[in-house]
Amino acid sequence: MNDRKNDHHLVTKNLLSTQSRRVILASKYQSGVPGEQGTENVKVVVIGGSGGIGSAVLKRLRDSFPQASLSATWCRTRPVDESLASWSQVDVLSEQSIADFAAGIDSVDWLINATGMLHADQRMPEKTLQQVDGEFFLHNLQINALSTLLIAKHFSRALKNAKADEVTPQFATVSARVGSIEDNRLGGWYSYRCSKAALNMAIKNISIEWQRTLPAVCVTALHPGTTDTSLSEPFQRNVPEGKLFTPEKVADDFIRLLTDLTAKDTGGFLAYDGERLPW
Ligand SMILES: NC(=O)c1ccc[n+]([C@@H]2O[C@H](COP(=O)([O-])OP(=O)(O)OC[C@H]3O[C@@H](n4cnc5c(N)ncnc54)[C@H](OP(=O)(O)O)[C@@H]3O)[C@@H](O)[C@H]2O)c1
Repeated sequence: MNDRKNDHHLVTKNLLSTQSRRVILASKYQSGVPGEQGTENVKVVVIGGSGGIGSAVLKRLRDSFPQASLSATWCRTRPVDESLASWSQVDVLSEQSIADFAAGIDSVDWLINATGMLHADQRMPEKTLQQVDGEFFLHNLQINALSTLLIAKHFSRALKNAKADEVTPQFATVSARVGSIEDNRLGGWYSYRCSKAALNMAIKNISIEWQRTLPAVCVTALHPGTTDTSLSEPFQRNVPEGKLFTPEKVADDFIRLLTDLTAKDTGGFLAYDGERLPW
C-alpha cells in the first residue's frame, strides 16, 4: 500500500515537473480558422520569409489571419509567392540594409526572425576542431546571432507602436536546441552551436533591457525541431522516424505559441511544443 502511495506520489511529481518545464497553453490558434479579434489584424514582419520555415509561417498566417498585414524579407532566394506579403530584399550581414527596411515600417505586432545558416556552398558544419575555420565561424555568428541584435536595435521603435492593448507584441527568433550549452551531449558543429548559444544570450539580454523600455513585448528564442528545409537537408538521414517535421507543422506550432505567450513569458527559450529548454 505504502509502495503504491509512493508510486502515485512519484508519478504526480514527475508529471508536475514535466508540466512546470512546459508553458501550459490553452491555445486560441487553430490552423485555417480565422483569428480572434485583435489577432486577426496583426501586423507581422518575417525576416527570412524566403526560407523553409519563414515561408510556411507566412502561408499559415495568410490562411488563418486573412486581415493581417504581412511584410517579409528575402536575400538570395526570390519569394515563390509574391502575393503572400509585402516583400523587401534585406541582407542581414548589412546593418544598413536592416536599418533601411526598419525605417519603412511604422509599427509591428509580431516580429519573427527566421534567418539562419548551418552550412554554406563549400562548407559543412565541423565534425572536429581541426575543421574550424575563422571565416566560417564569423559568418555563422553574423547570420545566426548578430542579425537578431541589429534587428532588435532597429525595430524597437516599430515594436513600441504595436497595438499592445489587443495583442501581446512578440519578438521571436528561430534558434536551435543545439545552441543549448547544458543540453550539448554530442559536440561538433562548433560554428553553429556557438552562434546559436550567442543568439540565446542576445535574446536573454534583449528581454532584460526591454522589461524596462518595452515592457509589453515578449522576447523569445524558438526551437523548431528538425524540419524538412534546405538547411537540414544534408543531415536528414539519421533523423528518427516521425521526428522530421514539415515546415507547415512547425509554422502552426510557432503561431500557436506566439498567439498565447504574454509579456510575463519574456526571456524564454522554447521548443515548438512549448517545452522550456535549458540555456
Ligand atoms: N530546419 C531545421 O531543421 C532547423 C532546426 C533548428 C533550427 N533551425 C533554424 O530555423 C531557422 C530557419 O531555417 P530554415 O530551416 O527555414 O532554413 P532555410 O530554408 O535555409 O532558410 C534560411 C533563411 O535565412 C535567410 N538568410 C540566410 N542568409 C541571409 C542573409 N545574409 N540575409 C538575409 N537572410 C538570409 C535565407 O534567405 P535567402 O534564401 O533569400 O537568402 C532564408 O530565408 C534558422 O535560424 C535555423 O538555424 C532550423
